[in-house]
Formats: sequence, structure tokens, C-alpha cells
Amino acid sequence: MTCAIFYASKSGHAKEVANKISFALDEIRVFDISLTGSEYISDYKHIIFGVSTWDHGQMQKDWQKIWDDFKYINFKGKTVAIFGLGDQKKYPDEFADAMRYVYDDLSKSGANIVGFTSTQGYEFNQSKAVIDDKFVGLVIDEHNQAELTNQRIKNWTEQIRADMLHATS
Ligand SMILES: Cc1cc2nc3c(=O)[nH]c(=O)nc-3n(C[C@H](O)[C@H](O)[C@H](O)COP(=O)(O)O)c2cc1C
Repeated sequence: MTCAIFYASKSGHAKEVANKISFALDEIRVFDISLTGSEYISDYKHIIFGVSTWDHGQMQKDWQKIWDDFKYINFKGKTVAIFGLGDQKKYPDEFADAMRYVYDDLSKSGANIVGFTSTQGYEFNQSKAVIDDKFVGLVIDEHNQAELTNQRIKNWTEQIRADMLHATS
């Protein structure tokens, strides 16, 4: 298997989403980076990263801890997708911002980033996770739109399935 999910989660939302994505993609491996750090990331060619936003637009703390190592991983030739957790009602000016830091780093490192999604159906003022009117990955809001989560995961995993599981190179 060449595909895995790496996530961190403070209150369990990203963990739950990671497990649902894994299930939808034929039970691919899931790593909690608070336990494994950045180890194993380089072993995979197709990778999904899960990052929640905390403290006004910051990456969740376990992500911050591995950031110095993460920055130096070479993602050239790897296909990656990002999902993020946020709260659009309480943090409408920093909604899911942390995804952008991961995106920028992956992009600089030459990763092939897939899984952009529409911002339609969300209500917020601004988000660093938006580029050219699209989120840089899947955005889940368990506080205000939990009822949409399963469908959003289903749509997204169908969207990225070919890139993640059937890529030939
Ligand atoms: C103190 C605090 C700060 C937060 N800051 C943000 C924020 O800046 N932007 C955002 O979109 N969500 C923010 N959130 C919402 C979290 O991203 C949300 O609760 C998410 O589901 C947490 O996922 P996790 O439990 O997997 O870490 C914040 C939540 C708390 C409690």
C-alpha cells in the first residue's frame, strides 16, 4: 500500500474524519502524528494530511511540534491531499487557515496537490485555505455543519480516489 493518512487532533474531530476517510478509501493506514512525529511520512507516495485550526489561525499544536522536520521532507514526486477542521461561525476570519501552511510547504517542495473543493455551502468572511475561490482541500466543520460531514467525505474521497489509489507513477 502506498497511501496513508497523517493527522493530529486535539478534541477528536480530525481523528474521526481521518478514520472515515480511511474507511472510504479501502482502509488505508492512519497515523496520529502526536504519536509518530514526522516518521513514516517519507515512506508513502500518496499521502493525505489532516490539520485542524486553533488559536486564531494557527496549526494545531502537534503539527507545530513536527513543523521543523516537516519543512525538510522532500515531497517531489508525491501526490498529496489535505483535509482541515475549523469553525466557520466562531472564527469566520480565520476559517480553517492552518490548511494553508501545510499547502504552501507542500507546494514549495514540489508535491502534486489534489483534492481542491468548492467554497459553496460554507459561510465565512475569509480563509487562508482559499486560493482562486477554492479550498486547498476538504474542509469539515463539526460545530455547525456536522450533518454534511459524511456526504462531504464521500464526495471528496470519490474525487481523490483515482489519484490516491490507482496512480501508476
Ligand atoms: C480555542 C479555540 C480556537 C480555535 N481557533 C480556530 C480558528 O482560528 N479557526 C477555525 O477555523 N477554527 C478554530 N477552532 C475550531 C477548531 O478547529 C475545531 O474545534 C476543530 O473541530 C478541532 O478539531 P480537532 O479536535 O481535531 O483538533 C478553534 C477552537 C478552539 C476551542
